[in-house]
Amino acid sequence: MTTHIRTLGNTGPQTSALGLGCMGMSAMYGEADRAESIATVHAALEAGVTLLDTGDFYAMGHNEMLVGEALRTAPAARREQALISVKFGALRDPDGNWSGHDGRPAAVKNFAAHSLQRLGVDHIDIYRIARLDPDVPIEETVGAIAELIEKGYVRHVGLSEVGPETIRRAAATAPISDLQIEYAIITRDIEREILPTTRELGIGITAYGVLSRGLLSGHFTHDRQLAANDFRAFAPRFQGENLRHNLDLVEALREIAEHKGVSVAQIAIAWVLSRGEDIVPLVGARTRERLAESLGALDVTLDAADLAAIEKAVPADAAAGARYPAAQLAHLGTEQ
Ligand SMILES: NC(=O)c1ccc[n+]([C@@H]2O[C@H](COP(=O)([O-])OP(=O)(O)OC[C@H]3O[C@@H](n4cnc5c(N)ncnc54)[C@H](OP(=O)(O)O)[C@@H]3O)[C@@H](O)[C@H]2O)c1
Repeated sequence: MTTHIRTLGNTGPQTSALGLGCMGMSAMYGEADRAESIATVHAALEAGVTLLDTGDFYAMGHNEMLVGEALRTAPAARREQALISVKFGALRDPDGNWSGHDGRPAAVKNFAAHSLQRLGVDHIDIYRIARLDPDVPIEETVGAIAELIEKGYVRHVGLSEVGPETIRRAAATAPISDLQIEYAIITRDIEREILPTTRELGIGITAYGVLSRGLLSGHFTHDRQLAANDFRAFAPRFQGENLRHNLDLVEALREIAEHKGVSVAQIAIAWVLSRGEDIVPLVGARTRERLAESLGALDVTLDAADLAAIEKAVPADAAAGARYPAAQLAHLGTEQ
């Protein structure tokens, strides 16, 4: 694993080729086991994963405190190698409802001050607003992060779920290490305009939803019971006929995986890895078992015949259902 290194854009840090997305350890996918989550972070660091992704609104600080605890209890050498990527800006009420985004400079600095405390670190490696605040020009939000960089509290500016125009405006304001955005065999929207833009500007990609939130993992079944607050309980791709159709696509991938002697999740992760050295998939493992499976993707090489078979089994736009419910799609700067 330690030999699998990628660099985020022209100005970003070197990182392990796979990052660990910590969101599911606190939120979005039902209950998680705290001790197992921390053990998973430790196992990832031990295996050479250096990039940990979190957000201040993942169970409102819970995820940052969990990552902070995992870092404090990790061996010093591993802790020092870790890069922490933090998203901010999403506003929520105590019931967890979403109520917009705040990218005002004073708010950015306020969010950062809280995050540094919760994480127990003296700097954040990559800091990004989760969604564009439509009332605040991106130059102001990025400018505030640039000021935090000057003071040593942040190392790099990242972006999340924004489209070409915002990417260009942000990059004209400060160097951008990476854009965090959904990318998977069944979610290829970024290939049309966004990837060409980030490549032109020398910005890396940290890809999330590589397993399409578990749908492409090979472990998801029709009869899986989901908690009411699980994102998948209302995500279009997981509903009724859509789910049936999408799981048929997974079965087509399973044939390819079995032929290669690997798992469906490993095919899905290896496919994203194969799309370019500028892309670092974030895997959402929250148990050591899932982590080990995901890391196994680094040893899977997809040759031209494999890629053609995947393309035939799951062409672009083969999935049924949008990647977010309508209300959340409206907040995506990438979809407007
Ligand atoms: N910027 C943004 O807008 C944004 C949005 C969403 C997420 N993110 C970040 O990206 C990270 C990854 O996204 P994600 O969690 O949605 O991605 P994901 O990897 O597509 O989905 C994670 C889900 O897949 C399941 N899974 C099954 N097999 C797995 C395996 N072998 N390895 C890993 N997971 C497996 C997990 O299931 P079980 O644990 O239930 O088995 C978990 O529920 C997040 O943690 C977060 O940090 C960013």
